[in-house]
Amino acid sequence: MGRADGVDEPMRPQPDPAVLDGLDLLDPHLHASYDLTPLWRRLRATDPVRRHDRFWSVTRHADVLRVVRDPDTFTSLKGNMLRTLLRGHDPGAGRMLVVTDGPRHTALRRVLTPGFGPRTLGPVTRSITEATRDLLGALVRAGGGDFVAEVAAQVPLRAICELLGVPERDRRRVLELTAQAMLGDEGAGLEARMAQSEILLYYTRLAAERGSAPGDDVISLLVSAGLTEEEVLLNCYNLIIGGDETARLALAGGVLALATYEKEWARLRADPGLVEPATEEILRWTTPAAHVGRVATRAADVGGRRIEEGDVVALWTVSANRDETVFDDPDRFDVGRQPNRHLTFGHGPHFCLGAQLARAEIRALLAELRATVTRIEVTGPVTWLPSNFVSGVATLPVALA
Ligand code: HEM
Repeated sequence: MGRADGVDEPMRPQPDPAVLDGLDLLDPHLHASYDLTPLWRRLRATDPVRRHDRFWSVTRHADVLRVVRDPDTFTSLKGNMLRTLLRGHDPGAGRMLVVTDGPRHTALRRVLTPGFGPRTLGPVTRSITEATRDLLGALVRAGGGDFVAEVAAQVPLRAICELLGVPERDRRRVLELTAQAMLGDEGAGLEARMAQSEILLYYTRLAAERGSAPGDDVISLLVSAGLTEEEVLLNCYNLIIGGDETARLALAGGVLALATYEKEWARLRADPGLVEPATEEILRWTTPAAHVGRVATRAADVGGRRIEEGDVVALWTVSANRDETVFDDPDRFDVGRQPNRHLTFGHGPHFCLGAQLARAEIRALLAELRATVTRIEVTGPVTWLPSNFVSGVATLPVALA
């Protein structure tokens, strides 16, 4: 293990096999405290479409694909994660891209897609490369620190600001507010709620400005397409929640994997041709969105089980990405893995719009690490996020040399 002496293992323990059947997958702390690999393996083998009290768990790659490829039968309109689905509604339903369906989804996606095309992504990628170089350089000079706070939390937010066309002068404030607002996601404290209102107000003003003077950015695209103010805000919000935390977790989880599997880091350092497959392997290995959710609009068969109309279905991509029928030696982190048919970005009509952006962030990190770092060491306890949806590390103390 690439870590300093006397430090706890950076990996979470695996649960006792005797208790696997009784584990509550909704419990956020279960995901933070344990590496659930044995549970997913058991479910894929013995109960791949499992009935729980309030939802189904789908754990095999083929069954996840079957569901996401059939949006008429499995809708996103009621939400796309267990938290909102079990609450019974999603505030963005029918208006925010990821929780729309059918022709409305197609139309919205058509509006947003140019914002992720080469004309926008070119400059965004350059700014990601610069930000990564500056932040990583500062961390190396400081002798180390929390990789999440110092690098992984900064790059994705900067990229999103760039995509949305937040002017340079406002960046610092917007980044601070967004960070505060995100902290409030689980049971919003006062500070978080105030930051959320302030940020909404900020984007409302920005949208009004872009209405009269449009640019190449995503807000201008939304405003020019005639979306209402609320729809513009919801879709900006979709990009922030969709692209901030997920990318952060992939970057930080990638560094943890390279620190842990030293031989894979050495292979990557020796061969620039491995940056591409290593990027995909980090995406598979980290799977920052542990599940996506759907609701059945009619009775349907999945993996031999009958799902009834109205049933909530959780598709555990974190398990599908370790499916032994699709990946050779799935529990091995292999920077040269090819092919790599991971479902980290989902699949089908809702396939992640920011996938190329997220890949650019990981590639920039790997390129910079290869250029400037030889040793990656975990120097303190690693903590994991308590959530059944976003999966990954909350803090990652490292030394880079
Ligand atoms: C959709 C994961 C980065 C924006 C999705 C979906 C997944 C996902 C699983 C499908 C959701 C579903 O089927 O219900 C990830 C991961 C990322 C990442 C793991 C980072 C490693 C980004 C970034 C952005 C973004 C950087 C933009 C700034 C979106 C949007 C959708 C989406 C707008 C909705 C697409 C649609 O419904 O048509 N993402 N994402 N994501 N993602 Fe990402």
